[in-house]
Amino acid sequence: MSANRPLNDAEAAAALDWYRAAGVDLAVLDEPVDRFAASVVPPRSRPAPVLVPQPGSVEMPVVAASLSADPAETRALAAGASTLDELRAIMNAYEGCTLKKRATQLCFADGNPEAEIMLVGEGPGEQEDIQGKPFVGRAGQLLDRMLAAIGLDRTKVYIANMVPWRPPGNRDPSPEELALCAPFLHRQVELVAPKFLVTLGNVPTKALFETSLGITRTRGQWRDLTVGSHATRALATLHPAYLLRTPGAKALAWQDMLSLKRAIG
Ligand code: URA
Repeated sequence: MSANRPLNDAEAAAALDWYRAAGVDLAVLDEPVDRFAASVVPPRSRPAPVLVPQPGSVEMPVVAASLSADPAETRALAAGASTLDELRAIMNAYEGCTLKKRATQLCFADGNPEAEIMLVGEGPGEQEDIQGKPFVGRAGQLLDRMLAAIGLDRTKVYIANMVPWRPPGNRDPSPEELALCAPFLHRQVELVAPKFLVTLGNVPTKALFETSLGITRTRGQWRDLTVGSHATRALATLHPAYLLRTPGAKALAWQDMLSLKRAIG
């Protein structure tokens, strides 16, 4: 195949599909920028160019972070919600998180707001972004089977995520995005007031347990946590997406499910 031959329709569709799967789902500029050429180190004899922004030049945002937004703002907004419906409306109207600009819609929560058990995941994936509900893709189907194994279903649990808008390409939410969205999740916990809270995987466990330890060290552990102003018993367990990739770890998740079953009695 000639390197410079234009792609035919099938090849172009396959390339786009590959980009989309890799998380490249947004065109930032009309013209591509060759970052490899830009990063070539100049020869020693030539002085390195000094990069001075030119009038009218376009600055490329490299990191998708909500750097200009302030968690104090989301904290104040979240505090103004006295019901889950109000909180959902406030989050829908909020424009400060860059994740929202790329997401299809808000993925607020699923399940029963009266439930004693609240599950917290990381953030919506592709299917959750399309349907606007947490854990409806393959990982969600596994989560449903895990819950069913201990007699639970979505009428008996409430499910939300640390960030309510899909991070592009399913990357982890950045620390800035987590800090910005945390007050929304904390208010959700306060309003649902669960007796038991289960963190699914690394991201919510690190954030809510306030630990830097990885999930393989923290899973299976119960902690007394205060989230927002609500005190709850919290259990860390493995993320169902991790279990899909690592079926050998399902035995550990099963132990955690049994531990949850014993706790709820
Ligand atoms: N993974 C998550 O953490 N949350 C979802 O809603 C879906 C997949």
